[in-house]
Amino acid sequence: DKKIIIAIDGHSSTGKSTVAKQLAKALQYIYVDTGAMYRAVTLYAMRKGFIGADHFEEDKLEEVLPEINIRFEVNPKTGIAEVLLNGENVEHEIRTLDVSKHVSKIAAVSQVRKKLVEQQHQMGVEKGIVMDGRDIGTVVFPKAELKLFMTATAKDRAERRFLELKVRDENITYEDVLKNVVNRDHIDSTRKDSPLRQAGDAIKIDNSNLTLQEQFEQILQLAKTAI
Ligand code: C5P
Repeated sequence: DKKIIIAIDGHSSTGKSTVAKQLAKALQYIYVDTGAMYRAVTLYAMRKGFIGADHFEEDKLEEVLPEINIRFEVNPKTGIAEVLLNGENVEHEIRTLDVSKHVSKIAAVSQVRKKLVEQQHQMGVEKGIVMDGRDIGTVVFPKAELKLFMTATAKDRAERRFLELKVRDENITYEDVLKNVVNRDHIDSTRKDSPLRQAGDAIKIDNSNLTLQEQFEQILQLAKTAI
């Protein structure tokens, strides 16, 4: 079998990573969550106080970018890659609503994108990879053999994300989550560098009315055809 690159892009909280993980497992491919990389840089900037509710010192972040090391490490218990920020496993910390509130501003910085895209590109040289994000089919791997663009109504997406987040933080409200999902989509789609766009040759998947199983079967079929 030939190995291919599968690029999965789309709006926030559309379940890209869920299906990407299922697909990688079924095909024995590597899964890369590029959102985790932008989230890890965001966490770094938050800890340094470069970004907060009403400020963002972009120049300070750019200055320290060379000091930020992002890597993945497979958790032997789950087989899933977790993100390391300068050697520290931050897989849980990067999933909070706080990080979600700042990440799109960080991801709009060209120097941040340049650094991470270079690294993502390296990870795909041997193919056999499923990568999810916002610019994978348009910028990172414009020649990917299979490109998917996932979407669903904002209401459906916020409901799913709310149920996930509420387990860990009981103070979270549905309205906060909905606002964040809509806000991130807006910033991600309107930024100058690598805006979120459906690639011309991407297949659109609207999963508002699909079960996880139905969606997985559809996508696995597409992958098998592409391989
Ligand atoms: O995929 P996830 O929702 O974790 O991504 C978090 C944020 O990271 C996105 O809202 C977007 O601002 C940014 N991102 C990006 N390009 C990617 C992946 C994520 O700009 N390839």
